[in-house]
Amino acid sequence: MNSYKNKILIFIILLISFLIYTNVLYFTELKPIPAPNKSAQRGKILWQEKNCTSCHQLYGLGGHLGPDLTNIYENKPESYIKVFLKNGTNVMPNFHLSEQEINDFMEFFKYTNSTGIANPTSYIKQADGTIKQK
Ligand code: HEC
Repeated sequence: MNSYKNKILIFIILLISFLIYTNVLYFTELKPIPAPNKSAQRGKILWQEKNCTSCHQLYGLGGHLGPDLTNIYENKPESYIKVFLKNGTNVMPNFHLSEQEINDFMEFFKYTNSTGIANPTSYIKQADGTIKQK
């Protein structure tokens, strides 16, 4: 009988803990994602039209022939990125992009960089079991 009461007590404690934890997670304010500007929006359309995702990933999703480009804006100098966009490489095709299109891609990469981190090993685990980016 005593053990039955203990089970009920443990069940109630777990249930209350679950409800508190769920509520805390549900009502925690998330960092708002900034809206892309016009140029970044054009860059996103170009990204889709040129099918860059067949070889590159964003947020870890996409092809794996080339590197993930989510945070390239932060990790590589602008001039370095522009060389790839202008000329391609032995493996990456030259898309013959105009100056405007190259700038749109730069704005798009600036935007993706501000919205998340692609590398999960850099995430910080928090005490409540969630992860934090930056
Ligand atoms: C056929 C596959 C392919 C496609 C399609 C492709 N790329 Fe690439 N890209 C690569 C590869 C592979 C590399 C790595 C350099 C190399 O080995 O040539 C690369 C490198 C890059 C880099 C430099 C990354 C770094 O960290 O050094 C940028 C920026 C880039 N690509 C942008 C683009 C954009 C924008 C598009 C779409 C317009 C695109 N790529 C389409 C294969 C591709």
